[in-house]
Amino acid sequence: MSENLYEPIPMRIVRRYDLVENVRFFQVRPVEIERALTINYKPGQFMMISLFGVGEAPFSISSSPSRPGLLEFGIRKIGVLTEELFKLKENEIIHIRGPYGNGFPIEKMYGYNLIIVAGGLGAVPLRSLLLYALDNRDLFKKIYFLYGARRPNEMLFLREFLELKEREDLECLLTVDKDDTGSWTEKIGVVTELFKYLKDIDPQKTYAAVCGPPVMYRFVIDKLVNLQIPKHQILMTLERRMRCGMGKCGHCVIGSIYTCVDGPVFTYWDVLHMKDLI
Ligand SMILES: Cc1cc2nc3c(=O)[nH]c(=O)nc-3n(C[C@H](O)[C@H](O)[C@H](O)COP(=O)(O)OP(=O)(O)OC[C@H]3O[C@@H](n4cnc5c(N)ncnc54)[C@H](O)[C@@H]3O)c2cc1C
Ligand code: FES
Repeated sequence: MSENLYEPIPMRIVRRYDLVENVRFFQVRPVEIERALTINYKPGQFMMISLFGVGEAPFSISSSPSRPGLLEFGIRKIGVLTEELFKLKENEIIHIRGPYGNGFPIEKMYGYNLIIVAGGLGAVPLRSLLLYALDNRDLFKKIYFLYGARRPNEMLFLREFLELKEREDLECLLTVDKDDTGSWTEKIGVVTELFKYLKDIDPQKTYAAVCGPPVMYRFVIDKLVNLQIPKHQILMTLERRMRCGMGKCGHCVIGSIYTCVDGPVFTYWDVLHMKDLI
């Protein structure tokens, strides 16, 4: 986005609204409009968002580079910085540097089936991959999007994902653990129950991408391993505590791995060989 990855770029909030309680969508663009088309990133990367005098933190990019000019985020109000971000209105300015992290190995995924499995806030980074794959539909074989939330009112991007169900070139499966509305028309049950709808998957020609709460990984990985998807084709995006986001401060190091640079996307193979990664 900038020649100097340290340099925070001023960005204007174009749109912001609540996705669910305490999780807000932010769509931003560079204040200097000519910079808009220089924003370049891969699905799975993250940006450092800052407010002067308050602080800075990493946030996954939720938009797709196939839709240039704007960046989108889904931010949960949890602490000092996010409380202040939630007070901002459209047209106000935030600062962003990046992109950072490895992102998904997108070119390697061309020509493969995609199984994208999201739980809760995991839909934020995986939406970037999903939109990218749909915008470049010819580059991928079958695409499955499996998304689970605890309740209907905790499902991010619900209207957008319901619209995707109309597409014939995507299998979009949505589930909630519990329906307390009485009006939920999609599946009920944990996200792993959606695996029974996957049909005729050639595991060698399939990549899976997973992001969700820590408890979800073991059960989803079991399902993917049962489908015989190779371990290096099971990708997961993992959040670790980070400070600089760019391999300088050592805050995110596990063994010899800088999770901000070598991650946040890891393969199941990496996870098996590195203690404490999950
Ligand atoms: C690669 C990456 C991508 C991320 N993407 C998103 C995203 O898309 N949306 C989003 O809402 N958040 C995301 N986060 C998490 C976000 O960076 C933190 O929640 C951030 O600390 C919020 O700042 P704050 O000042 O509001 O909260 P703080 O005041 O820093 O912290 C609030 C509370 O959260 C705890 N906490 C902070 N960071 C983490 C962490 N990484 N893991 C577990 N607990 C933590 C603190 O201990 C404290 O209890 C991401 C983190 C990483 C590393
Ligand atoms: S966050 Fe500083 S080295 Fe990774």
